Amino acid sequence: MSDQPPNKPNLNSIKKLLEMLSMGKELTEAQHKEMKDYKFWKTQPVISFDEKISQEGPIDSRKTVADISEKPLPLLEGFEWDTLDLTSTKELDEVYNLLHENYVEDSGESFRFKYSAEFFDWALKPPGWKKDWHVGVRVKSSKRLVAFISAIPLRLKLHDKIIESVEINFLCVHKKLRSKRLTPVLIKEITRRVNRYDIWQALYTAGIVLPSPISTCRYTHRPINWEKLHEVGFSSLPEDSTKEDMVKKYYIDENNEAIKLEGLRKMTEDDVDEVLELYNKFQAKYELIQVFDKEDLKHWLLKGKEVIYTYVVEDKSNKKITDFFSFYLLPFKILNVPKHEQLNISYLFYYGTDHDSSKKELETRLKLLMKNALVINKGLKIDVFNALTSQDNTLFLEDLNFGLGDGYLNYYLFNYKAFPILGGINKHTKLIEEGSGIGVVML
Ligand SMILES: CC(C)(COP(=O)(O)OP(=O)(O)OC[C@H]1O[C@@H](n2cnc3c(N)ncnc32)[C@H](O)[C@@H]1OP(=O)(O)O)[C@@H](O)C(=O)NCCC(=O)NCCS
Repeated sequence: MSDQPPNKPNLNSIKKLLEMLSMGKELTEAQHKEMKDYKFWKTQPVISFDEKISQEGPIDSRKTVADISEKPLPLLEGFEWDTLDLTSTKELDEVYNLLHENYVEDSGESFRFKYSAEFFDWALKPPGWKKDWHVGVRVKSSKRLVAFISAIPLRLKLHDKIIESVEINFLCVHKKLRSKRLTPVLIKEITRRVNRYDIWQALYTAGIVLPSPISTCRYTHRPINWEKLHEVGFSSLPEDSTKEDMVKKYYIDENNEAIKLEGLRKMTEDDVDEVLELYNKFQAKYELIQVFDKEDLKHWLLKGKEVIYTYVVEDKSNKKITDFFSFYLLPFKILNVPKHEQLNISYLFYYGTDHDSSKKELETRLKLLMKNALVINKGLKIDVFNALTSQDNTLFLEDLNFGLGDGYLNYYLFNYKAFPILGGINKHTKLIEEGSGIGVVML
């Protein structure tokens, strides 16, 4: 790795740059259908696959709130819209149950996200959240909740432009109602409800390829309890290794004095100002970031009890906070291995450090911070620590034994043209030294 200032890509040639920018295209080409076959998406203000972008900005900026209907979209016969009240435990439970039973499963149907009421409280009720944006579909007769989609407020910064937008997430249709074109109706209805608040852009992510990703990141996994991961079928045993080799490879020594960070402690509300300053400074180099104010930061880094964990490093000599890192917990329910009920999984969230005067210094510091994050994760009985190839993660993933996963995360902007952004991988889906321009972390 070269000793360049962070995020000043050391590109050898224009050819290399072009090759990397076409990464998303090559990576995803095999996975998408032709534009004309996206019956719904081809009618929406999104970038088509072969579109050449000459300037960034909104795709359609003609509409005003007065043009947006006050009435919800018509639904299939026998179904009705419901705005969910997620301050009510009963309705929170209904969303939990719908997603628990029907949200993303791996293709082998061995794991399912195990959302909790606390998780939704954190993920769906950040400052400025609107009840109107927690949209459900119920069966008219039984009132059973069968579909859900949500939006939360999001102030994005893309290059030097601030975009008032929303983040769309937790789209889910009951298994029995799949392939009935309910998704386009849900997306149009949430768009209508967001437009009513004079907001015209959205950020969303998906594993599948839609027209058209502005970036693609890859999931990486750092086994902590390799034995359990192997028993449940999450990690396989490479042919040339023994179980003992693997356990040894991923062993984390919590008593290793060499990695102990003096001044490492849990973040508290008193740290909010300083962490925000550090966050702003650290994130400034990325191309797509989430703009936080104090309340946002407090929510995202401190509010989810037993969901979000944030640590700071305080310099004892001057009490200044020099670093922070955070991760959130979202376990998997294990469906087919009786011995284990759940897989404890954490996801790297936001981080920042002052130790970034050169790329080398940043790399060294991030490795140290993440080694400490791994020790904390082990203490929390986490089985695997996941991270995307976004932010500056490519600086430490390999050295800290994060393995490349099968999953990719495509980033999309609704009603906004943007130049492609590096997602930490090249067209061969391997990690790249140049890292990623994606600063925002989506759940
Ligand atoms: C994703 C899900 C809602 C799609 O439902 P479905 O019944 O298969 O699809 P529908 O018949 O309702 O709609 C099909 C349209 O929705 C689009 N679509 C499917 N998944 C989508 C997604 N995640 N985001 C945006 N659009 C999506 C399809 O591309 C298609 O539009 P097209 O004709 O333009 O290609 C459903 O599979 C589901 O609930 N899965 C589990 C939860 C999940 O994966 N959520 C998404 C996480 S990113």
